[in-house]
Amino acid sequence: MKDFRELETEIKKASDKFTNIESINEFRIKFLGKKGIISLEMKELASLSGDEIIASKTEELNSEELEKKLNSETLDITLSTSKSYGTIHPISQVIEEVITIFGDLDFFVAEGPEVETDYNNFTALNTSEHHPARQMHDTFYVETETDGMPNVLRTHTSPVQIRSMLKQKPPIRLIAPGKTFRCDNDQTHSPMFHQVEGLVIDQESNMSHLKGCLEIFLKTFFETDKLNMRFRPSHFPFTEPSAEVDIGYTKKGNQLIIGEGEDWLEILGCGMVHPNVLENVNINSNEYQGYAFGMGIERLAMLKYGISDLRTFFDSDLRWNKHYGFSPLNIPSIIGDLS
Ligand code: DAH
Repeated sequence: MKDFRELETEIKKASDKFTNIESINEFRIKFLGKKGIISLEMKELASLSGDEIIASKTEELNSEELEKKLNSETLDITLSTSKSYGTIHPISQVIEEVITIFGDLDFFVAEGPEVETDYNNFTALNTSEHHPARQMHDTFYVETETDGMPNVLRTHTSPVQIRSMLKQKPPIRLIAPGKTFRCDNDQTHSPMFHQVEGLVIDQESNMSHLKGCLEIFLKTFFETDKLNMRFRPSHFPFTEPSAEVDIGYTKKGNQLIIGEGEDWLEILGCGMVHPNVLENVNINSNEYQGYAFGMGIERLAMLKYGISDLRTFFDSDLRWNKHYGFSPLNIPSIIGDLS
C-alpha cells in the first residue's frame, strides 16, 4: 500500500499544476479514474482486514517505542549491588572448622544418605534386632523397605562407616559430617541434629593414636593449648573397648572456659572398631584394626560459641542468625567498599 501522506502531497503537487481543462482531465484520469491511483488504493484497502491494519500499526508503534526506550535507558553494570550479605549458620561454620582440622590430619570427607537401611544403621554395626541399644535410639521408621525391613532416618552418622568400608579397602581415614534424626524434642534434644563420625582403619592404629588424634582436634577446635581430657569406659556395640571423652571446663562469671578446671563436659563417644563390624564388611579383623569416634556438632557449636538453647539453631530467626552467624568472606565491590 502507498503511504497516504505521500499520496496527499502528490495530489497537491499535481493540482497546483492545473493550467487548463485538459490538465484537469489528465489529473482526474490519473487519480480518480476507474484505474486511477485512488480507486486502486481504495480497492486494496477494502481487501485488508481490520485486524491486519491494527496489528501492523501496533507493531509499528511498539518498535518506535522500543527504539525510544533503548536510546534513553542505559544500564550501569559497574554500580555496586546490595551490601547486605547473609550470614553463615553456626552449624555450617562448625562443620567447616571440623573438616578443616581433620583435613590437616589427612582425613577425607565421606557421605551417606539420610534415609538408611536398618542393616547399615544397626545390624552391620553389631547392633542385632533385639539389641537393647536400639531402644535408646528413638528411631524414625519410613515407609520404604530394604530386604523386608523398614528403612530408617539414620539415627547416627555411624552407618557411613559401613558404606565406606564396603566401597574402599583399608587404609581408611575418614570423617562423615551430616544430619541425623531421633524422635525426641526438648531443650536439649531436637528431632534433627548433626554429628560427625570419624573412622581410621589400617594395620596398627590403636587406642593411643585415637587419644592423640582427639586431643589435637579438641585443642585446635577450642583454640586452647591446655586441655584437661579424660577417657571414661563406656559401651557402644560397634566398638570394643569403648569410651566417652570428657573435657575440663570452668566458669568465669557467665563465661565458660574450655580446657581448664575441675568440672567435666561430655563431648564424644569413641573406641576401637569391633572385629564383628570389620567382618561384616569383609575386612579381615586379624589383619586390620582401627578406631572410630562420633560427636554432636550442635554441642561443639554451643560450647565454642556460647549458644545456650539447642532449639534456637533451628528456629530460623533472622535476628538470631545475624547475631550468632558468621560473615562470609566479603566480596569487595568494584569501587572497593569493604563495609
Ligand atoms: N554413634 C554414636 C551415637 O550416636 C556415637 C559414637 C560412639 C560413634 C562411638 C562412634 C563411636 O563411631 O566409636 O551415640
